[in-house]
Amino acid sequence: MNLSKLLGPTGKAVVLATDHRYFGVVNGLETPGPVIRPLLPYVDVLMTEPHILRNVFGGKVDKPILLRASGCSTVMNVPVPGYLLEPAKAAYQQRMGKTFDAAVAELSAKVKSGKASEAEQEELRYLESFLHEPDTIASERLMLTGQGCVDEGASGAAVSVYLKTRYQSQTLDNLATMSRQARPLGLPVLGVVAVGTALGYLENDIDFLTRASAVMVAHGADIIKTYNCGDGFDKVIEATGVPVIVAGGKVPKGKDPTVDTIDLAYDCMQKGASGLDFGRRIWRHDHPVAVARALGAIVHKNATPKEALQLFEEASRQQPA
Ligand code: 5RP
Repeated sequence: MNLSKLLGPTGKAVVLATDHRYFGVVNGLETPGPVIRPLLPYVDVLMTEPHILRNVFGGKVDKPILLRASGCSTVMNVPVPGYLLEPAKAAYQQRMGKTFDAAVAELSAKVKSGKASEAEQEELRYLESFLHEPDTIASERLMLTGQGCVDEGASGAAVSVYLKTRYQSQTLDNLATMSRQARPLGLPVLGVVAVGTALGYLENDIDFLTRASAVMVAHGADIIKTYNCGDGFDKVIEATGVPVIVAGGKVPKGKDPTVDTIDLAYDCMQKGASGLDFGRRIWRHDHPVAVARALGAIVHKNATPKEALQLFEEASRQQPA
């Protein structure tokens, strides 16, 4: 598959992720036009969803488009009804000798502090599945066909896959279906490794990320969007076997948004990523253009974090928030 429309002649790209409204994240993208337009000169590709492409840009954007083709999910948790929840909690207490709520609180605190073992993380995931339907966000279907993406002017189609949920086969089928349609059209398919609140902490799990990429590439992904898990991320990229671009996620609480974003971007590129696919870290920042320029320098000019920060500071002085 020819990826040059997305990754350019250098094989590297800064992708601006603006597809969030498809799953209900609107904060910061209430008026997408004025948010996105000033950023376009400083990024290589726009990842977006059908509404923004069709209705905000009238189908015409001066950058290659990675169009989100899978969706129909929600950020609204569906609570498990009390008549199912209460007996489950009582059975837990009887079996384990401690209340369900206390166990959840204890495990959550451990996971948040980063001290939970893999088994404890798994246990929390399991217990949380009693509280609300964590998988509802994962029940994606294809919104567009491969031909539909081409007709709308896309240079690539993005499809999320929710492994480790009961929708893993359904979402893998979405990816494989898109791949079958896209291949004869020469349309590259981005497989998005989904983690999100529903799955928690999997973004730090090297084994999960390695296997997720392998499964998704085998199901037809030409590029993978995944998370930088820190140590071992270079191995994840190596084992993926196709170019990897890295998701931004939210800036962790208590971290400086500029320094953390620059450090993350630099680490991704040092570990062998082909680019960045950041959204909220750019357009929720007080100086989005300056962040985009700093990321461009890291990806295309091998800028160090110090150089990128310097560029950010100069650029933010030129364009005050
Ligand atoms: C992760 C996605 C999202 O739709 C989005 O692109 C995330 O961007 P960010 O986390 O950088 O705001 O593809 O599933």
